[in-house]
Amino acid sequence: MNMSKKLWGGRFKKEMHPALKCFSYSLETDKELFDAEIRVNEAYAKMLARMGLITVAESKTILRGLKSVGQILTGRDLAAYADQYEDIHTLIQMELEKKAGAVAKKIHTGRSRNDLVVTSTRLYLRDKVAVIWFMVKKLQKALVITAEKAGEIIIPGMTHLRRAQPVLLAHHLLAYVEMLDEDNARLADSMKRVNVLPLGSAALAGSALPLDQKFLAKELGFTKIAENSMAAVSDRGFLAEFLGVVSILWMHLSRLAEDFILWNSEAFGFMELDDAFATGSSLMPQKKNPDVFELVRGRSGVIFGYLQAMLTIQKGLPLSYNRDLQEDKPGVFDSIKKTTTALEILSLAISSVSWHKRAIARAVEDDSLFATDILEYLVRKKLAFSEAHQMVGKVVRYAAESGKKLRELSIQEWKKFSPKFGADIHELFDLKDSVWGKKTIGSTHPVRVKKEIAKWGKKLS
Ligand code: ARG
Repeated sequence: MNMSKKLWGGRFKKEMHPALKCFSYSLETDKELFDAEIRVNEAYAKMLARMGLITVAESKTILRGLKSVGQILTGRDLAAYADQYEDIHTLIQMELEKKAGAVAKKIHTGRSRNDLVVTSTRLYLRDKVAVIWFMVKKLQKALVITAEKAGEIIIPGMTHLRRAQPVLLAHHLLAYVEMLDEDNARLADSMKRVNVLPLGSAALAGSALPLDQKFLAKELGFTKIAENSMAAVSDRGFLAEFLGVVSILWMHLSRLAEDFILWNSEAFGFMELDDAFATGSSLMPQKKNPDVFELVRGRSGVIFGYLQAMLTIQKGLPLSYNRDLQEDKPGVFDSIKKTTTALEILSLAISSVSWHKRAIARAVEDDSLFATDILEYLVRKKLAFSEAHQMVGKVVRYAAESGKKLRELSIQEWKKFSPKFGADIHELFDLKDSVWGKKTIGSTHPVRVKKEIAKWGKKLS
């Protein structure tokens, strides 16, 4: 390798061993930062001229050079340069030298790759977080529209995966809209930690050159300048936070996927996936599988792994920069890709679902879904809650043992358990009444659910 193709080398007599090149070069990964780094370089060239560190003419030459490097290399597979250049920083500088000549050597004035790489990473992440945030909204919208279409379909709400109480299917879907909203709030909040300018920190100690950090921050849209150069070059807390926030998002996506997998199973039979979003089996011709949801559930495990890796990479590092930190990027880049594609496919797949109303109706035929309504009936008749609870439990057992549905018990049978039971007990066995009877904020009452749908419709538009 030619010495001039590196950003360092003066101190070395020998070339790097090819095995170490292979081991340490990172262009195949950090090529992802190309656009961000071009932007950083543009701001930097302007700043250097403002501060008199280069002339205005030199700055212009560099800017023109950056433009043509951008034009030539955008859309190209930069991995083709992977054995030629150590990393994205080297690639851009060397290509810039080809375009702009020797003056390009001045672009790195007062910087280190230590502060450069983390600046480009922050800029890159900021844009990607905005995309993810938008895609989360898109999935929320798909869920709200699906909820609206579900109207007043009532499903058995579950706890412990056992039938619990009747709820609106729309209410169940909106639960995820709510969770996703928290995820987006977390994403937005994390931007405060992302949007900080590290440039000026140089290798670790700051620079003795007059670098206008305020100008750089303004040019690049950073809202803060790093206040400790050592933290700036060596801390990747913001990446751990990003993966943490994204992991929580995936925890929600995985749960959502699991619900759809269950609903799609023959055991539930609640829904039909559109053919375009289902997959078949190479052996069993009858199969129509929900792989899309299974891949989401599976990929969540990969994302959680990246978080674990990010924490472990940093936990034992002495300050300040260590090359270990190069390992911060693959997980971040891949999780961004996996997250945006999962959000996209989920929005599409969920919108394509149709509901098997008959199977759902069969699933809510179970009278034990009304046990809590009966309990609340007794409480309204002034029976102590725990006492009423015991009593209804006994009625449920009695009905099960005598092979009867709750609604088939005669008034005499009810009265054996408590004189408080009146003829009106039979009116309780109505799914609609059960959901319409709910009073609390956040309940499955259809009017509330409708209002929620309207609220989200507005909020997400
Ligand atoms: N590729 C490195 C990283 O991703 C940046 C270069 C810093 N290298 C160095 N030897 N100081 O962190």
